[in-house]
Amino acid sequence: MFNQLVKKRRTTYQFQPVTVDLAKINECIDAAIWAPNHGMTQPWQFYVIGEQTKIQLMSIYAQLRADKRAESGSPEHQAIYEKACKRFLGNPATVIVGQVKSENPVVYKEDYAACSCAIQNFQLMATELGLGVQWSTGPILQSEQTFSILNIHPAEIELIGILYLGYPACETNQTRKPRSEVTQYFD
Ligand SMILES: Cc1cc2nc3c(=O)[nH]c(=O)nc-3n(C[C@H](O)[C@H](O)[C@H](O)COP(=O)(O)O)c2cc1C
Repeated sequence: MFNQLVKKRRTTYQFQPVTVDLAKINECIDAAIWAPNHGMTQPWQFYVIGEQTKIQLMSIYAQLRADKRAESGSPEHQAIYEKACKRFLGNPATVIVGQVKSENPVVYKEDYAACSCAIQNFQLMATELGLGVQWSTGPILQSEQTFSILNIHPAEIELIGILYLGYPACETNQTRKPRSEVTQYFD
């Protein structure tokens, strides 16, 4: 049932140490690309991260995290760096989502909406496959080094999400405001 699938999709922060088959990631992308998009701009790009690239991105992720929280060269910085490396490597699969930039601000905004729909499709397919996803928008997506690793240019692509996915290690509960609080009915 669709209603159950929607409620089952929860942001997942902890994963079992189990590999995710590329075929399953591709199924998620195949669902993503059927998202609505105004003018058939199809503004999404998906970067599926393999093991070697994951190590490169891990360093950027950990560096940015440690730099934000502690003084460079301090033992605290090193501890945060190492913890962040472990955390990044603990994500069984990583997919970065890019939005092709438009010079038209209206198209740009609508394309972001379309990419968000694509990510939701991705997440719902992942849920159906028993996978969990965390959609993150951390500073790694703004780093010049990330663009360089992915061989893309920030003038052309905006990185709008890094999706960590894997088999959930635990259940996550979430609540929502009831419909009555967010809906007004008119004659
Ligand atoms: C645009 C967008 C950006 C998000 N960025 C982050 C993020 O940087 N880190 C994170 O942990 N979760 C992020 N999330 C996930 C939300 O925290 C999550 O959807 C919210 O807590 C509701 O939980 P649920 O997804 O289980 O319903 C993001 C979600 C959206 C839609």
